Amino acid sequence: MTTATILNGKQLASSIKTSLKEKISNLKQKPTLAVIIVGNNPASETYVRSKEKACLETGINSKTYKLDENIQETELLELIDLLNKDNDVNGILVQLPLPSHINTDHILHAITPIKDVDGFHPLNTGLLLKKSPKAFIPCTPKGILKLLHLAKKDLTGLNAVVVGRSQIVGLPIANLLINENCTVTVTHSKTKNLKEICKSADILIAALGKTEFITKDYIKENSIIIDVGINRTTEGLKGDVKFSDAIDLCSHITPVPGGVGPMTIAMLLENTYEAFLSQTNS
Ligand code: GUN
Repeated sequence: MTTATILNGKQLASSIKTSLKEKISNLKQKPTLAVIIVGNNPASETYVRSKEKACLETGINSKTYKLDENIQETELLELIDLLNKDNDVNGILVQLPLPSHINTDHILHAITPIKDVDGFHPLNTGLLLKKSPKAFIPCTPKGILKLLHLAKKDLTGLNAVVVGRSQIVGLPIANLLINENCTVTVTHSKTKNLKEICKSADILIAALGKTEFITKDYIKENSIIIDVGINRTTEGLKGDVKFSDAIDLCSHITPVPGGVGPMTIAMLLENTYEAFLSQTNS
């Protein structure tokens, strides 16, 4: 039995950040990212702090707008309108989830597509489906694709199974993998025979948000496994995949932590840099 290769997202993210830092140091003006966080969700606060720190390390200006849990949708829309019009702001990110009294789509659709560094505006979703190079690709799926390419340059013809159909991860990664010539199956909580379907996967993307749900019965030998789960447990951060089961079966796997998470942040920095270049014709 051979042990799988670890796809080290922390290391890859670090080399991407170093190269971005170098490119940004040569710019006359620095890119700026505006981050909006509503309420006091502890996980969201941690993510936003990590994003601020990564911006600082790379030479991107970050401005965080921390808004009260009870803010009205109209006030949030007014802030987005100001940021859309502000030439000194290149990227806008609204940390999700938003409180339930706010319609998330109203907010995400209000961000001008050219500053939509999260890639959640329907125009960017459409551009992704059209394989347009102008699309902002959502950060987690974009990072996952880079990790997959560490394992294998050409993904053509591989069976990819995505577990989870979220707007943030499942749906965009499915479309990116179709664009890579994979045969893609998207599964979800209503899927029948999930085990059998997962067991046919050359590439398994676990993005369902259930601690160590994917055990050995779901895993094909020599497959590539991407674990998107970030589950906070009493024993620390755990993925959606039971790592100790997977490591002896698959050929490559992302760890949790240190796999997909750092790549999401690196891709946010890359998208912000690209937004800056396209807005300033640099
Ligand atoms: N919440 C969880 N993941 C994400 C993400 O990629 N972007 C935003 N804005 N919020 C999130």
